[in-house]
Amino acid sequence: MSFEVARVRKDFPILDRTVRGGRPLVYLDSANTSQKPRQVIDALDDFYARHNANIHRATHELGEEATEAYEGARIKVARFIGTADETEVVFTKNVSEGINLVAYSIGNATAGLGGQAAAGLRLAPGDEIVITEMEHHSNIVPWQLLCERTGATLRWFGVTPDGRLDLSQAAELINPRTRLVALAHQSNVLGTINPVADVAARAHEVGALVLVDAAQSAPHGLVDVRSLGADFVGFTSHKMCGPTGIGVLWARRDLLEQMPPFLGGGEMIETVWMDRSTFAPPPHKFEAGTMPIAEAVGLGAAIDYLTDVGLPAVRVHEQDLLAHALAALAEIDGLRILGPTQAVDRGAAISFALDGIHPHDLSQVLDDRGVAVRAGHHCAWPLHRALGVQASTRASLYLYNTHEEVAALADGIRQAQKFFGTA
Ligand code: ALA
Repeated sequence: MSFEVARVRKDFPILDRTVRGGRPLVYLDSANTSQKPRQVIDALDDFYARHNANIHRATHELGEEATEAYEGARIKVARFIGTADETEVVFTKNVSEGINLVAYSIGNATAGLGGQAAAGLRLAPGDEIVITEMEHHSNIVPWQLLCERTGATLRWFGVTPDGRLDLSQAAELINPRTRLVALAHQSNVLGTINPVADVAARAHEVGALVLVDAAQSAPHGLVDVRSLGADFVGFTSHKMCGPTGIGVLWARRDLLEQMPPFLGGGEMIETVWMDRSTFAPPPHKFEAGTMPIAEAVGLGAAIDYLTDVGLPAVRVHEQDLLAHALAALAEIDGLRILGPTQAVDRGAAISFALDGIHPHDLSQVLDDRGVAVRAGHHCAWPLHRALGVQASTRASLYLYNTHEEVAALADGIRQAQKFFGTA
């Protein structure tokens, strides 16, 4: 199927609405959360209207249908990220939960909970965890908490002035004390796509595990867990045309087998006695209680949708839009793009600072014109400090955006400059 943005836009009912007194909606905030196509909305509606029941524990036809739909979504996720083994796919609430799952499980690992292999995952004083300065808070705070609990030390890669990872210290930072390296595949602020496979190879040489936050790359079909070379990969449905409330943690099967559970409760067990329990095999060991069933089905529908539209064509469209947007923004006096200024090894999230205008003021002027962007530190406060700015404005593009919408952004910025007298 050839890619036509006008046809894609028809799939997204919200793009028809107006905002702020009749302005067409120009939605440039997809890195925050994406819009949803009719196909996903219909899948949620159909699940609740025809198949709703609890999974794995209902002994009736609806229960069978719901279980089949939920487990079917798991298979779709596995195929989407290039693994043949759906038992490596754990459903979570979001990426934050997936990262916390890994951090808590490693922190709780004991021989009693998973045998000697599990005890080997445990961290102690002297061990090091390596992250990067361009992480979202969800890939910083769980590791700070884990270090606090275990006495391990947190270290990080810096960022170069052009918004790339500073790998010059890689040999020193990733060393025999390193137990885990956690990094973003694509920065939610800079758009930078990191050389994850190279970092993972170095980490594996010293015996460290690698966790990849793929929240910003999975929506563009960039995640193949085997070629990333990671041990854990997290991503979330709501940024890739699916519903909120459901995310994915992919992990190597042998690790999921060793790791103790994160949350205890219904359906994650094999047997329960008053003084002890044994656990279900992965992935169910990590899915306690009633899961977001309809949301998983909705994620499956989002994957079907993106696959039908054609991810290679989506990427071509996004790269074209990105190059166009970078060029349009570069023409605006006083505007500094944070991160790579060329459309190479970067995705279509573009953050910038504008001389003399606070991002919140700019986003308000844009919003009055129907242009939705994100303003603030984008849950990446340390990165903004490193770049010498308090906050930034971010426009993020997805498959349904157009050149006209990029022009509306540029016009809106110029209008703000006139309004605040900074032009
Ligand atoms: N929702 C977060 C963002 O906007 C991750 O970047």
